[in-house]
Amino acid sequence: MKIGVIIGSHRKDSQSAKVGRFLETALASRSGLHTWTLDLGKTPLPLWDESLWSNGPQWSAIPSLKAELDACDGFIVIAPEWHGMVPAALKNFFLLWAATGELSHKPALPCAVSAGEGGAYVISELRMSSYKNNRLCWLPEQLIARHVKSLCNEDASQNEGDLHDAFSARCDYALELLLAYASALKPIRNAGLIDHETYMNGM
Ligand SMILES: Cc1cc2nc3c(=O)[nH]c(=O)nc-3n(C[C@H](O)[C@H](O)[C@H](O)COP(=O)(O)O)c2cc1C
Repeated sequence: MKIGVIIGSHRKDSQSAKVGRFLETALASRSGLHTWTLDLGKTPLPLWDESLWSNGPQWSAIPSLKAELDACDGFIVIAPEWHGMVPAALKNFFLLWAATGELSHKPALPCAVSAGEGGAYVISELRMSSYKNNRLCWLPEQLIARHVKSLCNEDASQNEGDLHDAFSARCDYALELLLAYASALKPIRNAGLIDHETYMNGM
């Protein structure tokens, strides 16, 4: 099984990427599990325009990116709260995929990141407006890394004990559910039910 980790911050060295590394390490302890990470801060994608449909030169990375996404059985999507919103790079990422494969009918665990007590707007926005055409399936479970500077640090002395431990336990719980959904949705994708030729866009 393969889980893709999408880091939604524009920053090259982001707290979201730090949380991503923490979740990847937690996944790595499970046998037979592979991960792949796309950090939109380190690998920025061009803003969507219609030349995507005619394979314009700025979209040369799309086929290899599509192959990586196709190979994933599920995703973790990590997004910082910026001005109460999801960063534009992540919204742009969701615009790029609308075919069978890629994100479609695959489970995704949303994880918001906040320096303080925020993060809820990110979860609401992702659940409301990111999946209609790409058909990503958000899990009914979510993570919010609040006070993120006190969590998930490789140097354990920088972690606030109770806060970090509670988040870590919540991560383990959510990851187990993600993996169970990833197994459960695979037969649905293979059942011959999905018809994105007739119904390219969601209603
Ligand atoms: C432009 C900007 C806007 C922000 N707006 C919010 C916000 O609305 N709510 C919040 O809880 N934190 C906000 N923050 C703090 C971020 O949640 C915090 O800095 C986080 O670590 C940024 O994540 P990143 O390092 O993954 O980019 C904002 C940070 C930036 C840079």
